[in-house]
Amino acid sequence: MAKNKLKKFAEMATFENVVQPHLDEVLNKDYKLKGKWNSEFFKNDNPIVLELGCGKGEYSTGLAERYPDKNFLGVDIKGSRMWKGASHAINTGLKNVGFLRTRIEHIASFFAPGEISEIWITFPDPQEKRIRAKKRLTSSIFLASYKKFIKPSGIIHLKTDNTLLYNYTCALCSHNGLDVKFSTADLYNSNLNEEVLLSIKTHYEALFTAKGMTIKYLRFTLDGHDTFIEPPQNEDDE
Ligand SMILES: C[S@@+](CC[C@H](N)C(=O)[O-])C[C@H]1O[C@@H](n2cnc3c(N)ncnc32)[C@H](O)[C@@H]1O
Repeated sequence: MAKNKLKKFAEMATFENVVQPHLDEVLNKDYKLKGKWNSEFFKNDNPIVLELGCGKGEYSTGLAERYPDKNFLGVDIKGSRMWKGASHAINTGLKNVGFLRTRIEHIASFFAPGEISEIWITFPDPQEKRIRAKKRLTSSIFLASYKKFIKPSGIIHLKTDNTLLYNYTCALCSHNGLDVKFSTADLYNSNLNEEVLLSIKTHYEALFTAKGMTIKYLRFTLDGHDTFIEPPQNEDDE
């Protein structure tokens, strides 16, 4: 492993704002912080917002800076990327953001019903092959998992460059009758003028916009739904 990566991993183990459970602490069981993130991790009663697939954590830290009265938790499996957000938070004294290193497949082991207020999914891997559709972070399987712990009216935000993933998620919302609050296939030319959407750019967003790709955005809730089914396959899917 590269020396730089090893150094980051060693530092991460000392960071108070990072939680890195072993698989046997979460596999088919509740993690010890489940239901206790406010009292034992953030040490306040403020709402908790997740960023799934946070990478270097630009949204988690950017939102934490803008909303001191909310808590943010970036989730990713890649520790060397997460190190950037975690060290930025430590170096700038940002106390309302933390990082959880885990596979999102285990996310329901971490939170009690209603413990999470909102979810951001920022530039997730699109998993374009049809056979991998259920691995998309907005698939019916993942939505059923998020439903276990998000507040009933909690917003799920998807920001992506990927047309297939955007269309798939729109179709899934429509097929399941989910309440879509806003959607656009071209965020920067839409009438949605919200600072956090337009000014916080993740590492991948910067790469994609430099290539001239349009950014898509969708926000919806799972309110009133407990089960979710996949939309019919699109003819264009591989
Ligand atoms: C394309 S990157 C986007 C990172 C960041 N959100 C950005 O916009 O720069 C996707 C991220 O999701 C993470 N990821 C993908 N699938 C995951 C999973 N099942 N569990 C945890 N992390 C995952 C990857 O490690 C990677 O950091």
